[in-house]
Formats: sequence, C-alpha cells, structure tokens
Amino acid sequence: MSLAFDWRLPVQLRFGSGCSQALAAELDDRAVVVLAFEPAEALGLQAAWTQGFGPQLRAWVRVPDGLSTLALARSLAQRVWPLLAAEPDAVLLALGGGSVLDIAKLLRSVPDSGDFEAIAAALRGTAPWPALTHAPLWLVPTTAGTGSEVTRWATVWDTDGRVALKRSFDEPWGFADRAFVDPVLTLSAPAALTRDTALDSFAHALEAIWNRHANPVSDALAVQAARRVRAHLAGVLAEPAALAGREQLSLAALEAGLAFAQTRTALAHALSYALTLEQGVPHGLAVATWLPTACRLAVGRDAGIDARLQAVFEVPATECADVLQAWLASLGVATDPATWGVHDGEARVQAALASTRGRNFIGAEMERAP
Ligand SMILES: [Fe+2]
Repeated sequence: MSLAFDWRLPVQLRFGSGCSQALAAELDDRAVVVLAFEPAEALGLQAAWTQGFGPQLRAWVRVPDGLSTLALARSLAQRVWPLLAAEPDAVLLALGGGSVLDIAKLLRSVPDSGDFEAIAAALRGTAPWPALTHAPLWLVPTTAGTGSEVTRWATVWDTDGRVALKRSFDEPWGFADRAFVDPVLTLSAPAALTRDTALDSFAHALEAIWNRHANPVSDALAVQAARRVRAHLAGVLAEPAALAGREQLSLAALEAGLAFAQTRTALAHALSYALTLEQGVPHGLAVATWLPTACRLAVGRDAGIDARLQAVFEVPATECADVLQAWLASLGVATDPATWGVHDGEARVQAALASTRGRNFIGAEMERAP
C-alpha cells in the first residue's frame, strides 16, 4: 500500500452526549425545517425540539419508518422544497437513522425548475443533474450507525418500476454541512436495531480494511472502530440504558464512517443488497451475513491487511473468519446465506466481485472467474 493519499471531509463535526441540545443556539436566527424519524413524537423529541426552536421552526416533517425510496422522496419534496425555496439560508435538519439522513441528502438539493422528475432522472442515470440549489444540511443520527452523517452518498430504492432497483446518489456535493453525533439519542433504539446498526458500522470498518482504497489513516480508524464494536456491543445489548456503552458504539460508528467515507464499501455490501431488496432483511444484518465469506476471501492477500484483521480479532489471520462467525452467532446472526434461502452463494460472490463495490475488495482480481 502506498503511503500517499487524499482525504476529504467537508463536514463540521460535533460529538458528545447532549450535544444536540446546542442545535437551537447554533442556528442563530436562521429558519429550520426538520425532517424527523417517526418515533420522535412518541419519544418527546418533537415537543422538546419544537419548543427549543420556537418560531424559527418552519415545519416538522415526519418520515415514515422503512426504506428510503424515490417515491417517499417525491412526496416529501412537495412539502419541503417550497419552504427551502422561500428562505435560501434555512437549514434542513435531519433527525433519525440512515434512511432519514439519506433522504435528507436528496431533499436538500432543490432543482431550480422545482421538478422532482429531474432528480429522479439523474439518479437513474438517464439525464445529467439539473441546475440545483443546495440548502444547508445538518444531520443528527439516532442510531450508531450507518455513518451517513460523514459520507457523500445516499441509498435510494427505486420502487417505481416493476422491479425494485437500488439507486446510489454519490456526488462531491453530497456531504452535509454539519453533523451532531449525540449518543443520548441512541438510548431509545430497540435491541434489534441497536445490534443491526452496530453490525453495519462493524462491516464498514472491515470493508474499509480489506479495501483497495485503504490508507494508513482509514486503517487506524477502521481497526479501532471494529475493536470498539466487538468490545461493547454485547454489553450494550445487556444493559441498553447505560450511556457509557452507547457512547462507545456511537464513537465506533463515527470512526468507521470516517474510514469508509474515504474507501467506500466492498464485497459484503455488494452481496447484501439482494437480501434487503428481495427479503426485507435489515441492512446491517444482511451485510453481517456475508462478512465471514468476505473475510475468508480477504485473508492471505496482503500482510498488512492480515495484521489489521489480526488486531481486530486477536487471533492469527487464518482464524479470523471463524472467530467472526462465532461472534456473529453469539449475537443471533445467521451467517449461512442458506438461512435466507440463498443456495447460489458462489455465483452471487462471483457476480458481486465484478460489481462496483466488489471491485473495491482486495481479493477481487484474484478471485474472479475468468
Ligand atoms: Fe452499510
């Protein structure tokens, strides 16, 4: 691996328990439009934040639970875009998990024509991006997490056609302006969501390690993130109300996010999308299912990568996949794709290795069938 690399992260970050309480003060006198995850109302966040923002709050827009789809973005745009167009310095503030943050990344870009179909066409690759005005975007994650607050991309599922497709928004202007990572907001995440989102951040860390675009800084962050999830996830699941453990998982998600914001994902993510789209398997769980497969293919390619996997799992590299599999099993994760009815695993691996994300994988060229 070369020691030369670029690093770009134009997001102003704040991390810390309680840091989201400073949002109203940080706005100064700007208007704000909140895009919020559904449980915000039941959790009392909507009431508290509405009071905190006072008359500067232009709208509290609820995003229903579920996948971030083009159809959802289209319907939310009708509500959000007129407000952003009316006040160019109004902040679009997204509060929620990865899907809410991803939708916000799309909605902050308002086409001058006001026509949502121009955005849809660009996402589908059938037209260039139209002239856009980007509203200031602040992201506040409630899970630990997808890392969406520090990446320039978003996943949008295109369910308009007969066959649902994954559309990736990935643009140099896709970064948020600010991110507030407040571990207190993750306290309400139920057990399954806590586990699955932690596994997603764990996967971002491993995929950053066995990645062609890794660099020494992403490696350091990724090893630390993966070790942190391994050390703290079981404890958080046993004691979900303990803030100290939640802080560790939030920090791990951020570290992993910073790492894979530079490297992007790799083989396990490429393999995961079919499970999510066809069978509704939550993203983190779907990726975790494929991690041992990817780990086995990664080991033995590069001494540095082996050493980093060894640092994560604290066993010789050749034993890492087994330790990973046992750890996932202890968390109740099925690591045999057959559990999800997948019996063509090898063919899927070959196809995934040739995909955009699969080509980021360190083992891609050596494993691909001729
Ligand atoms: Fe992910």
